[in-house]
Amino acid sequence: MHAELVAGVHWTGFLDWAVRDFHGYRTERGSTYNAYLVCDTQTALIDTVKAPYGPELLARAARVVSLDQINYVVCNHAEPDHSGAMPEVLAACPNAVVVCNAKCREALGRHFDTTAWRFRIVKDGETLSLGTRTLQFFDTPMVHWPESMATYLVEAQILFSMDAFGQHVATARRFDDELPVDLILAEAKTYYANIVMPYGRQVQATLKRLTALPIRMVAPSHGVIWRSHIGRILSAYNEWAVCKPAAKVVVFFSTMWGSTRQMAESIANGAMAGSVDVRLLDLAAVHDTDLVPEIMDCACLAAGTATLNMGMMPRMAAALTYLRGLRPTGKAGVAFGSFGWASKSMDDVQATFADMQVKALEPALTVKYRPDRAVLDQCRALGGRLADYARTTGA
Ligand code: FEO
Repeated sequence: MHAELVAGVHWTGFLDWAVRDFHGYRTERGSTYNAYLVCDTQTALIDTVKAPYGPELLARAARVVSLDQINYVVCNHAEPDHSGAMPEVLAACPNAVVVCNAKCREALGRHFDTTAWRFRIVKDGETLSLGTRTLQFFDTPMVHWPESMATYLVEAQILFSMDAFGQHVATARRFDDELPVDLILAEAKTYYANIVMPYGRQVQATLKRLTALPIRMVAPSHGVIWRSHIGRILSAYNEWAVCKPAAKVVVFFSTMWGSTRQMAESIANGAMAGSVDVRLLDLAAVHDTDLVPEIMDCACLAAGTATLNMGMMPRMAAALTYLRGLRPTGKAGVAFGSFGWASKSMDDVQATFADMQVKALEPALTVKYRPDRAVLDQCRALGGRLADYARTTGA
């Protein structure tokens, strides 16, 4: 398959229909590793693909130009899903110079033997003329690695945004108006929450700089290219960058013999009676990849776990560890759960909340062994208070 963004700018990436695990991120729709060929008096390849898929990239590029006519290989990001095929590409493109920033050169040197590579190191804002077309480079540090960079094709107003605005989806379609936009936005949200969320402050700074440019297309490194819904993805990023809360309560839990489940269901029922959006997520059935975007835009959360071996249930421990690393901001929460002879797991949940700067709304709600009607009434009442909080805090 072939796609041309505008005359002389070609997609030369790889569709990874089969990938289901991306360093822990469950990619149910597969992914793409996008690379782009910009043709002019001189030719630049923008990024490569994951290591096994170099031959496909080279075959696509060779349908457009002879590989010895590729003058530059821009490396926006050293993570191996984009740089893995770089050695193979450079071996096949004998006249290519690697264009990247100084941090990226250092990172590439840690991943590969770069002693024979030729580099052109570019600074933030620097331009590179290809003849009638100009590439301009913008550092986007920590969006989401230190060396991350975006490349702007000035005349065509195309922003090659690297991971930002990407989606893990494999599709024969290349553009945002060729698929249901809600599907793409949902995948972009999941992508943002699982990959970019820890760096919201840097995202805000990057958005401010890059959106000052005239942009006709945003071409990320994963998923489809934005050309018809640019306003929607930029507006969504503005909200995600600050984890903007909706009037939404998320109740997630890990149960042992059903007591914590009963509590969770009662909390959720109480919250639903409060006319807010509610998610009830059993960690036995919900992958962390899908939990995180729900947390990102909630106003408050309730985390329930039984006590196992004086600690949290393993699924809750894993989910909170993952969540803590992704650093959602501005959330409030409460812990709940059942225990047999010691409620130590509540200490663990609350300590993790404290690490995450989740505001403790009230003390943990616990029950020994099984909740009776009175405890379930307390749970429903707690759900109602969470709904009140979400309604007054969320948009
Ligand atoms: Fe798609 Fe950060 O690599």
